[in-house]
Amino acid sequence: MDHFLYRDGILHAEDVALPDIAATVGTPFYCYSTATLTRHYHLFTEALSPLPHLVCFAIKSLSNLAVLKHLGSLGAGMDVVSAGEYLRARAAGVPGERIVFSGVGKTREEMRLALEGGIRQFNVESEPEMRALSEVAVSLGKIAPITIRVNPDVDAKTHEKIATGKSENKFGIPIARAREVYAEAAALPGLRVVGIDVHIGSQLTELAPFEQAYRKVAALTETLRADGHAIERLDLGGGLGIPYTRSNEAPPLPTDYGALIKRTVGHLGCEIEIEPGRLISGNAGILVSRVIYVKHGEGRDFLILDAAMNDLVRPSMYGAHHDIVPVIEPAAGTEAQPYDVVGPVCETGDTFAKGRPLPAMVEGDLVAFRSAGAYGAVMASEYNSRPLIPEVLVKGDHFAVIRARPTFDEILRRDTIPEWL
Ligand code: LLP
Repeated sequence: MDHFLYRDGILHAEDVALPDIAATVGTPFYCYSTATLTRHYHLFTEALSPLPHLVCFAIKSLSNLAVLKHLGSLGAGMDVVSAGEYLRARAAGVPGERIVFSGVGKTREEMRLALEGGIRQFNVESEPEMRALSEVAVSLGKIAPITIRVNPDVDAKTHEKIATGKSENKFGIPIARAREVYAEAAALPGLRVVGIDVHIGSQLTELAPFEQAYRKVAALTETLRADGHAIERLDLGGGLGIPYTRSNEAPPLPTDYGALIKRTVGHLGCEIEIEPGRLISGNAGILVSRVIYVKHGEGRDFLILDAAMNDLVRPSMYGAHHDIVPVIEPAAGTEAQPYDVVGPVCETGDTFAKGRPLPAMVEGDLVAFRSAGAYGAVMASEYNSRPLIPEVLVKGDHFAVIRARPTFDEILRRDTIPEWL
């Protein structure tokens, strides 16, 4: 459920009519709903209660400071994967003890930053990383709390580019080698083992792969405890999928996911951490765009929008589907016709949808891409020298621009022409 609904024939974000935002900030823009973010965060906290838990929002999915500030003030932790994300979480007021640091290639500078600034734990992904972290911690006179990310060799049954839990993927250490790696970690002077981490992929639409992975983690917890390790926390990753269409999709609900967690690892007495991104932010955001032209092509009509693949890359990159709806609700009984929905970027891959049924559209009409809150704005680029588009946050009947559209002057000023040219 989200808070983007038609009211009096006009698509609203909570109580704000989208044409009003478009008139103020111009198009295209991203628009997020505070109420949807809140609701989705609470679905997880309720699903995990009464287990001791921390929901660490995967800020790679949506990293605007205002969004992080809002989730942080609800009590959320943050899952970060770079110095930039760590600094964002801190700038949004999230204390270090609620931040977990994931990622296969943390640099020593990033380790130093997080150790000095405060961190709940590092989710370590390899032996070289583990040794580097120990050295950095010792050099700072600190002890780094760690989990080790294990790769359970489970097929997440999702798009191959976002599956991470198979043995051929670059993530984690093979679960079969966990005992020897934990033994080495325990012997390193700068580390303190606090738990186990696992994350098998994103946009999972079945629970079975989670169940397989979490059962393996439960067995490993017992084994490692028998070896003398203090396994107090289990970080179970993110990945729960969302419905991208209104009609036929019914991915598992957070309540089912919570019940699964209780069933598989609830008896171990561990604090549970999860790292959801998409389920919190995905349906909390839309991308609003305007029709520049309707072009009649050979046997097809093109809807040419002012948004392009540089603003929302998921369709070109993963063949992802996003529902596209007119901002002005079509009258009941209006016939739909197929459009190829494209952007202005100079390559054929700049196609959002082919043969998408929509009511007859004309220049100037507004459309909204649904489910664009996660991996939308954060994956945008300035390809074709198109400025990054603004982000707007709605709460009730008011909205604020939470990232302004840069001016061309600002963009051009970032480049330097050397004096010897
Ligand atoms: N934790 C770790 C260690 C991750 O790598 C990810 C996502 C998450 C948590 C959050 O997963 P989520 O709950 O959002 O599924 N750009 C792609 C998705 C990439 C996901 C990468 N890792 C897309 O647009 O579909």
